[in-house]
Amino acid sequence: SIINVILSGGIGSRLWPLSRKRNPKQYLKIFQGDSLFSLTINRNKSFVDSLIIISNSDHFKIGEEWLRDINIPVQSIIEPIPRNTAAAVALACLAANLEDILLVTPSDHIIDCDPSYENAVQEAILLAKQGYIATFGIKPIKPETGYGYIEYRGNDVLRFREKPNRETAIEFVKSGNFMWNSGMFCFKAQTMLDELLFHAPEILDTAKNAWNNRVDSTSISAELMDVIPSRSIDYAVMEKSKKIKMVKSDFFWSDLGTFDSLYDYLVKNGHPVDEYGNMYIGDEKKFVQFIGFDNSIIVDTPDAILVLNKENSQDVKYIYENLEKKK
Ligand code: GDD
Ligand code: MG
Repeated sequence: SIINVILSGGIGSRLWPLSRKRNPKQYLKIFQGDSLFSLTINRNKSFVDSLIIISNSDHFKIGEEWLRDINIPVQSIIEPIPRNTAAAVALACLAANLEDILLVTPSDHIIDCDPSYENAVQEAILLAKQGYIATFGIKPIKPETGYGYIEYRGNDVLRFREKPNRETAIEFVKSGNFMWNSGMFCFKAQTMLDELLFHAPEILDTAKNAWNNRVDSTSISAELMDVIPSRSIDYAVMEKSKKIKMVKSDFFWSDLGTFDSLYDYLVKNGHPVDEYGNMYIGDEKKFVQFIGFDNSIIVDTPDAILVLNKENSQDVKYIYENLEKKK
């Protein structure tokens, strides 16, 4: 059968103070009553037979709230501590049957669900059935260093390069031969297990041990989770595997990684900005006035306020890191 594996272990630190350790980005109810998590499920529901949700034990309860009205079988995997996406993908493969097709999707991206998305997913499923790991290539619009880059010819992948430095990213974008990796993958469980065995055997071994000796049907033991090497699937498998194919995608995609991209998305959807490009995110009933600012954002939450210039969006993660250190 076909399973949507939803990776929901991140905390979205660059969206602080909207996104909190206790209530991360993917569960925020800021999309007309929906969350990125629920939008992800709804987008993929019609292609798949069931869901595997893999999340951190801290957030499992919040996630469950969003699952109440979903009428499709759900299997949960609860990680006591995050060990990055290679571990999460390995656990999902072990939870599935070897012949199952897994459509792995982050829980915190915005994608316009239109025929071009449906076609891309169907194409990826076909490639997965043929034993490939399908990636989705998004046309790059700037030399973003937080993404993976795919050098391609047609569906063939010549090279996969995760998070290049700025110089390299500029070169990649200029060459016109690269796409951004969207962070979604589609493959047969068996294919990914084979690739993990070949390229990251220590991750597969420790993940197998953690899965086989889990605390109960859903929860992994902290002790066994802790020894799984922490690497992303992009570094552990995608950069090395020879079985990668790419589906060229032209649906609207954003990972809403920073306030910069959230701002663009909100503007596109009619959220107010003043004539100097200033935006207030918070209590809609409040009267807010900017004087002497441009392209600034105020994020107003009950116990924390952030005032930032859009240009400094990447730096928000440092606030979060500092707050964590103070604890
Ligand atoms: N369950 C679980 N456990 N999920 C996790 C964990 C974990 O330990 N770590 C991250 N995730 C989830 C995040 O919540 C997110 O939905 C997804 O996995 C991807 O993780 P990120 O940490 O956001 O990855 P990234 O943004 O640095 O890079 C990936 O996405 C880019 C596109 O947004 C890569 O795949 C890049 O190649 C890609 O371009
Ligand atoms: Mg991300």
